[in-house]
Amino acid sequence: MTDEQAAWPPPELDFSKPTIARAYDALLGGKDNFAVDRALAEHAIANIPGLVDSAVENRKVLVRGVQWLAQEAGIDQFLDLGSGLPTVENTHTVAQSVNPDARVVYVDIDPLVLVHGRAILAENTVTKVVVGDVRDPATVLAHEDVAGFLDFDRPIALMLVGMLHYLSPDVVDDVVATLRDALVPGSYLFMTSLVDTGLPAQQELARITRENLEEGWARTPAEIEHHFGDFELVEPGVTFTALWRPDRAVDAGNLTPGEQLGMAGIALKKT
Ligand SMILES: C[S@@+](CC[C@H](N)C(=O)[O-])C[C@H]1O[C@@H](n2cnc3c(N)ncnc32)[C@H](O)[C@@H]1O
Repeated sequence: MTDEQAAWPPPELDFSKPTIARAYDALLGGKDNFAVDRALAEHAIANIPGLVDSAVENRKVLVRGVQWLAQEAGIDQFLDLGSGLPTVENTHTVAQSVNPDARVVYVDIDPLVLVHGRAILAENTVTKVVVGDVRDPATVLAHEDVAGFLDFDRPIALMLVGMLHYLSPDVVDDVVATLRDALVPGSYLFMTSLVDTGLPAQQELARITRENLEEGWARTPAEIEHHFGDFELVEPGVTFTALWRPDRAVDAGNLTPGEQLGMAGIALKKT
């Protein structure tokens, strides 16, 4: 028996309550979740029309966004904050399919992400996985596998994908500003968030999330744009995720309920 097997389950994992990463994995039909996570996912699915579709759309826009950043913008460093559990196409697989030398650092608060990440990335020398709390951005940025692995004197794509809505109103301004300030011109900020455009399901999802996972805040499109600061949004700006550079025909006037839960945007730091 190896040390890693002997330590399973790692003592820091708590199976008595759901976590965001595991519940999201359950929504996406993954295997890295437990009964409590599946119960929460089922409760949310029963109450929020199109919830699974919206999680799938979020993953799809993550892939399109990373592809665009690596291919069109020539970015070769990615700091993926709130990265979640590995799924089918991940930031490093997408970025490194464009540029095999692209460096990727995943940061997540859930220790299970580190357990799985380490196993998957054992052979990959250009990708790191770090356990960290984005609400403490200075500590995350100073981590040796962040500061010592990415070159902050060169452009970086900083990702808060499916993550912004877990930052409470008390901290979100300071956290995102600290992260923006850490980047040099030529860098990009890529964010997606649960949105509030006035549909009841959006605030209801935020409420269910807060009730069960402590954090969860639906933000208006203007609030999401505000968190890009003075960065310049690339086309098409902040849009519903399905409408951000889609790779299929999407009828903007006829979006499904699931397509109206999240918005996405990428912006360039110019100065
Ligand atoms: C909905 S998942 C999104 C995963 C992935 N980025 C995606 O878009 O598919 C949100 C992730 O953010 C992580 N997370 C939530 N709050 C966090 C925090 N304060 N610091 C770091 N990670 C956090 C959760 O553990 C979870 O893995």
